[in-house]
Amino acid sequence: MKKYSFKTALLLVSISAVIVLPRSSLAATQAGEALVRKGDCLGCHAVSVKVVGPAFHDVAEKYAGQADANAVLAASIKNGSTGKWGDLPMPPHPNLSPADLKKITDWILSIK
Ligand code: HEC
Repeated sequence: MKKYSFKTALLLVSISAVIVLPRSSLAATQAGEALVRKGDCLGCHAVSVKVVGPAFHDVAEKYAGQADANAVLAASIKNGSTGKWGDLPMPPHPNLSPADLKKITDWILSIK
């Protein structure tokens, strides 16, 4: 039986990794969602339908697999954006910190 103990330990480690890791990334994306709910975002955006701005689902789809997606979206949110999705502009949000912008863009990009 002793020769199985290392395998058993490995198995336990991988099981706990599977349980723990998604939870921590889930917590991060939930923080992003909370920031969006707290801000003015949902006055113009919804997750799955276009309102004034594009649906966050469509944003996630457009930028899927793009390496600099977080940075591009963070710049659009912080500085405002126009002409990418239509003629209506998004106002700038200069008071969001880089850390908050990262949480918000992580959440938007996680939407399937
Ligand atoms: C007054 C309405 C309005 C508000 C408030 C608003 N948005 Fe937007 N948002 C827009 C519009 C309109 C666009 C499309 C801009 C364009 O075509 O370039 C947009 C685009 C975006 C995009 C896509 C940018 C890109 O580069 O493709 C993201 C992400 C986004 N908004 C997130 C947010 C978040 C997060 C907030 C809150 C902090 C927010 N928006 C608040 C109207 C708004």
